[in-house]
This record gives sequence, C-alpha cells and structure tokens, in this order.
Amino acid sequence: MRERLAAERIDGVGTSIFTEITALAARHDAVNLGQGFPDFAAPDFVKEAAARHIREDRNQYAASPGVPRLREALAVDWRRRHPDKPAVDPDLEITVAAGATELLHDAILATVNPGDEVIVFEPAYDAYAPGVSMAGGITRTVALFQPNWSFDAAHLSAAFGPRTRALILNTPHNPTGKVFSRADLEIIADLCHQYDVTVISDEVYSEITFEATHLSIATLPGMFDRTITIDSMGKTFSVTGWKIGWAVASAALTSALRAVHQFVTFTSGTPFQEALADILPIAARDGYYDKLREDYRRRRDLLTRVLKQADLDPLPVEGAYFLLTDIGGRGFDGDADFCRRLVTEFGVAAIPTSAFYTDPRRAPALARFCFAKKEATIEAAAPRLAPLARRRVPGTAHPRSGI
Ligand SMILES: Cc1ncc(COP(=O)(O)O)c(C=O)c1O
Repeated sequence: MRERLAAERIDGVGTSIFTEITALAARHDAVNLGQGFPDFAAPDFVKEAAARHIREDRNQYAASPGVPRLREALAVDWRRRHPDKPAVDPDLEITVAAGATELLHDAILATVNPGDEVIVFEPAYDAYAPGVSMAGGITRTVALFQPNWSFDAAHLSAAFGPRTRALILNTPHNPTGKVFSRADLEIIADLCHQYDVTVISDEVYSEITFEATHLSIATLPGMFDRTITIDSMGKTFSVTGWKIGWAVASAALTSALRAVHQFVTFTSGTPFQEALADILPIAARDGYYDKLREDYRRRRDLLTRVLKQADLDPLPVEGAYFLLTDIGGRGFDGDADFCRRLVTEFGVAAIPTSAFYTDPRRAPALARFCFAKKEATIEAAAPRLAPLARRRVPGTAHPRSGI
C-alpha cells in the first residue's frame, strides 16, 4: 500500500472549524447561532411544489443544463431583477446545478489553468480558496477592512497581474454582510477589463438586503461577457438542503461551465428544479421577497438587541444573515477560543471569523452569529449570553475601539 493515499491537491484542505463547532454544539445542547441555515420551516408554497412534482413522478434525471421550463423561469426572473438590461437566453446562458457550491467549483475548473492566479476578497466564504487550489490555481487575497468592510483600491490593483485569470466576488457578503456598492463594482470591473479577467460572482444572498440595494456586477457596462453570476434557492427560499443553484453567463462561458458540470454531477434533483420553476413566478407575484427582507430585518434587530445586552455590539450589516461582534477585552485567547468556550461554558454556538481567512493570524477577533433562526432560538440565547457582559477584563480596550 502506498504510504500516501491522498492526492497533493487536497493538502491543507482539512476539516473546518464549522464541523468542530457543530459537533461541540450538539454535544453541549447549545443554542446554535453558528451554522448558516434557517432553523424555521420553509414556506408552504415551496414545500408543496416539490411534493407535487415528486408525487407526479418527475423523479428521473433532468437534462444536464437544467429542466428547460426552469431555465425559462430563471430567464424571466433575470428580467424581474434587471428590467433595463438585455434578456438572457435560457438555452445558452443559464445552467442549473447542485447548489452554488457545485457551480463555484465548476466555474473555477472551467476558467482557471494550473498556475493561474485568482483574486479573492478576505474574509471569504471558505469554499473559494480550496476550490482554486484543487484546480491548481493560486489564491491572491485582498483585505476588506472593518467596520464597513471597504477595500483599498490600490491593494486591489496591486493584486492584479499577467497571471490573474479570475476574481471571485461575493455580494451580499458572507460573513461581513457587506453589499458591494456601484463604486466598488466599478473599480473591480475596470481592473477586470484592463487585465482581461473573468469574474465569478457568488450572489446567493441576493434577495436578503437591508439598507442597501444588491447590484450584479454582470450588469455593469461590458461585464456580462466576462462574468459568471451564481445564485441559489437555498437562502432565498429557506431550503438549503435542496441544493439547487444556477449560473448565468455568456454562451461561451456557459459552454465551458457545462462541460465541467456534466462530469461533476451531470444534473441535480429533478422535482426540486421543477418546483423552482413554479415557485419563481409565485414569489414575484405575491411580494415574497419584500416579506423575506422584512422577516430578516426583524430577526437581525432581535439578535442585535440580544448581543448588545451581552455587551457584544455587532458591526453594521447591509445584507446576508450574519452579525459580527468583536470579542476582544474579555480574556479569551482569540476568536476560536471564544467560540469553543462560548459553546462549552455558555451554551451558545457562533463561528470564529478566522475560519474565513487563508491565514487565520490575519483575522480580526470577531465572532459570527447567524440570525436565520426562529425568534424563540434567538431569545433562548439571551440569558446564556448575558453573563458575558460582566466578563470585561479591567484595563482592556472596549471592543469597538478598533484595536
Ligand atoms: C457565500 C456563500 N456561497 C455559497 C454557499 C453555498 O450555497 P449552496 O447551498 O447553494 O451550495 C453559501 C452557503 O452558506 C454561502 O454562504
């Protein structure tokens, strides 16, 4: 037997702290504000649509690019989102796959050659860097700075070079809640034009925004042809377990993406794809998205109050469903220690932001709390977190001092 069974491409791709905190939370019966998915019921009209298609026996392989009537519904939905932009072609420019996670992987494999560089803003969703390294690419990180998670245009410009092949964008952004502004996107777009770079834009929180408007970089002048826009029904319809995502891209990029997709999963859950085709027009007609935002605003405000009572003032967020709090000044040895002890000593689970950095030493001491939770879940965390307010170590900085 070989001494080394695993391929080198997965060197450094280990079990994440997400898995560790989740296991710890289950063992300690903690209130779980760590994991990024809803603990409340999915909407009835969403569940009923899938149940109907299962019952009516749409249970065999779908076409590899996606069920045609879903791609048509997604093209109509693109129109709803971008009424003043050119329509997209459901046959040539839309691909359905097993969630945004698969599409990110497909998009990277479809565009990045070994040795190519890929720019990623950091903190970053934890799938990006492993996806790039498994494709043989090299991740170049550009820092986002708290509290508003702005980037320095000079840093971004310096990250571009002759080897830059792609840039992975995530807006609204996990874990910071930043919604990239038009000015941000224009800076990125200019550099992508200048260096002939493809953008892989992860927009899975596109419908969850608060005091900001989500903008797709693909709609900026000249950007459609160099952008793969990825979205998913998991967050928008509170069904993360269904794993149905889609990508919108030019025919040339779509053809490359589909070449990978057909040999990664080939296709994904037919009744769920059929269901999404029914769900999209109903959601648009019935004001579903406004209600979704309203519900999340209420949950965000409730979790903000709960965290403030524990002297854990969260940073402002514009989108997605996470709050970040500075955990400095309380005698914890960094954010991972804080999150482990938050579970074992206080009975609440959160995620350390260092999990979103390729080098955890660069991470500020912040914990991520998820508010995609029932109000009862968020309220249950309040008495458990309250003792933290008394833990301030004398002489240490206030968490909002910026240190
Ligand atoms: C930024 C981001 N991208 C992608 C995903 C995964 O999406 P999906 O469940 O559709 O694979 C998540 C899930 O947490 C996410 O936060």
